[in-house]
Amino acid sequence: MSENQYDLAIIGGGPGGYHAAIRAAQYGAKVALIEKDKLGGTCLNWGCIPTKALYASAHLVEKIKDAHEFGIEIPEYNLDFAKAVDRKNQVVEELVGGIEQLEKAWKNDVYKGHGKIIGGDINNGFEVSVEGENNAIIKAKRVIIATGSSPALIPAFNIDHERILTSDDILHPDFKTVPKRLLIIGAGVIGCEFANIFTRFGSRVIILEYLPSAIATEEPMIVKVLMKKFEELGIELYTSQNVLSVENTGFGVKATTCDASIPRDQTDSAEKSIYEADLCLVSIGRAKISKHLGLETLGIETDRGAIKVNKDTLETSVKGIYAIGDVTGGLMLAHVASYEGDIAVSNSLAGIGGFPVNNMKPDYTVVPATIFTSPNIGSVGYRRKVAKDMGIDVLMGQFPYQSLGKAKCMGEEEGFIMVLADKKTYKIIGASCIGAEAPELISEIALAMQHGLTIHDVAETIHSHPTISEMVLEGSESVIGKAIHKKGRPIHH
Ligand code: NAI
Repeated sequence: MSENQYDLAIIGGGPGGYHAAIRAAQYGAKVALIEKDKLGGTCLNWGCIPTKALYASAHLVEKIKDAHEFGIEIPEYNLDFAKAVDRKNQVVEELVGGIEQLEKAWKNDVYKGHGKIIGGDINNGFEVSVEGENNAIIKAKRVIIATGSSPALIPAFNIDHERILTSDDILHPDFKTVPKRLLIIGAGVIGCEFANIFTRFGSRVIILEYLPSAIATEEPMIVKVLMKKFEELGIELYTSQNVLSVENTGFGVKATTCDASIPRDQTDSAEKSIYEADLCLVSIGRAKISKHLGLETLGIETDRGAIKVNKDTLETSVKGIYAIGDVTGGLMLAHVASYEGDIAVSNSLAGIGGFPVNNMKPDYTVVPATIFTSPNIGSVGYRRKVAKDMGIDVLMGQFPYQSLGKAKCMGEEEGFIMVLADKKTYKIIGASCIGAEAPELISEIALAMQHGLTIHDVAETIHSHPTISEMVLEGSESVIGKAIHKKGRPIHH
């Protein structure tokens, strides 16, 4: 193969694209990975990783405040957000460097610039142009588009990146000042995670949410625990708010809202509420990055910005071109993008032939999700109502952290785990957890679900004592009335 000829060209180096590039190289493919910014994409540079680095600082503040209960007096401490940001920047830099090294080690060619499909077909291969730090025309037998998403912008919110910010702005390496008052629009995953972080650093936080509940995708009982915590922390959440405008007043920000139940054509005459703060973070979801990729040249179909894919193969409407991750508008999660990367790599290399791969079909039944508020949240599989609405006879078990020895030792007694099973088969169909290490606990349930395990399978597995993982054991046991550290119903069979 000549220099610019590849088996696979991947546009976008986020958790979808960089992962796919390494996977393809593991199978022996020659890969070009095109990225106009830094490897790692949103997750590593502007999302999951920087927020979790800041969360670690915020969590430490929480621990320091409780230190006296553990016999440690810390009479004075200073919060230095700028240092926390420096640490966050360093974490990101090191991980980005690590991915660059990995791509190099796998001999993948990383092109720095904007990738665009300019022609070709499945029989003759495709041509992709790169413009930027590197300029090139690449030829590839197959293409994977993994361009991701960016914060959704609404004109009425006047995002000026000065006082009215997106999550990219607030995670900018130079954003180092804690606002006295922070207004957050959208009580989804991003909004709630930042509310927790900035409150711990001393901001007074107000959140405006359009729906009647924050993080409406999670179990209502889980959200209730989080809301109680938000109240304790002084976070003000106003739900059912239709935010009509956000303005930079020169000294701060001002949002005007009315009740979300008022029809859109009657908002002018509706009673308004005004919320003021120093800065505003808009976190109302994300938009797919599908423009200027040359999709129209080959006729790759989109639906409201999302690249349409065949749900069984992840191939777009053009044979030989695949799309994965946020740009397809599915579950906007880094780990889903990586998983889809595996599928697209297998299917594209199986199509070329000569690689040790078989076709793969995606399965989204078991997708764990996590939210790094404090307490943490983790969930997987069905929510209780969804399962019931589907006609499943649901068995539910719950176990509280306050009854677990290890949680008590750690001073982490808030929250609970809820495990769901199908009454007919006793197979686990979902779980939700709020509390210490909830995102880690959910992985065990995900593994159990992925392999069709029953409540009995988990309950009969010896879990090390004393560990937080016993939450999964007792939560599962409680489904069948067998939790030892909780009085429940008599045993089911
Ligand atoms: P989201 O979809 O989680 O939440 C957006 C929230 O904004 C929703 O509650 C929605 O009802 C509300 N909203 C929408 N328009 C509004 C308006 N005009 N006024 C007031 N409220 C409005 O989106 P978010 O938080 O921006 O996160 C984006 C994506 O990133 C999500 O898909 C999320 O799963 C992912 N993510 C995942 C994380 C994790 O796995 N820990 C962390 C952060 C983000």
